[in-house]
Amino acid sequence: MRLQDILSSQAWMSSLQLALLLVAHELRDCKTDFGNYDVLDNIREVSQAQPVPSHIACPVYFETGEPAEGPSGPELKAEWQVDSMKESCRLARLVMNTVAENIKSGMTTDDIDILVHNKIIEYGAYPSPLNYRGFPKSVCTSVNNVACHGIPDDRKLIDGDIISVDITVFYKGYHGDCCETFIIGDVDEAGQHLVDAARKCRDEAIAICGPGVPFAAIGHKVEQVARREKVTVVPCFIGHGIGTYFHGPPDIYHCYNNYPGTMEEGMTFTVEPIVAQGQEDVLILEDGWTAVMVDNGRAAQFEHTVLITESGHEILTAV
Ligand code: MF3
Ligand code: CO
Ligand code: CO
Repeated sequence: MRLQDILSSQAWMSSLQLALLLVAHELRDCKTDFGNYDVLDNIREVSQAQPVPSHIACPVYFETGEPAEGPSGPELKAEWQVDSMKESCRLARLVMNTVAENIKSGMTTDDIDILVHNKIIEYGAYPSPLNYRGFPKSVCTSVNNVACHGIPDDRKLIDGDIISVDITVFYKGYHGDCCETFIIGDVDEAGQHLVDAARKCRDEAIAICGPGVPFAAIGHKVEQVARREKVTVVPCFIGHGIGTYFHGPPDIYHCYNNYPGTMEEGMTFTVEPIVAQGQEDVLILEDGWTAVMVDNGRAAQFEHTVLITESGHEILTAV
């Protein structure tokens, strides 16, 4: 309900009640300790998913919602498999570039979904999020205090928003996954810093990747950078092995951890830290997906798909 509707329907209210309501509305709507931005706290109207033409090769979950089982441990990919990973990751990057060129205030997150979906179909690929464990759209769009897995809806982007766009494509049997946080118009300094810090967390963690490096070292590096930049790691979302499966071993923690195992040539996995302005805690809205920060602070995320090579690593979703 909008404030105007409340005011017109509640003519019986005393001026004291009205004053309290106004204060509550102000607090809820945009002023937090973390800056000046719109807080998203409700699920909205989600339209029907975009259609997938019959010539597109779909993963099994397009029909069932349930992904096929992945490998039991981190997979070492042969050259031909790595070549396929490179193709899907390159497409994910091209779609991200299209988003970067077109995203602006006034467009809805649904418009972003349509843009991403159509571009992926144009390339002859499938938008991996669509019906993955029932996800209702083709891309994740997470605005301001939404940490991740935001569902595209009828909310228009406004000046001062930050929005992470997480794009995954499925092409010739392989997934490629990347995410970036965009700044819409004039974002306050705290918001800009958060976005820069999130990018640094990802990039400095990727920089240490190579054969023989423990998976756990990624989380240690992300925590180190986050501390330096005075932002908080959101620990409950992790990176993942990726291939013919969207999510598989290894788990990539972005917080201090003792996950076993080391990186080896031929492994492909994502590094995708989420960092927040305040506390690390998130809750999931009634749609079963949208993860919001409990304290309404903003969150930002960047993601790349990475290949471990003989001498170090290669960023497969690089610009
Ligand atoms: N792309 C996300 C990731 O980086 C996963 C989204 S799952 C979805 O792992 F179902 F929400 F799309
Ligand atoms: Co992703
Ligand atoms: Co991912």
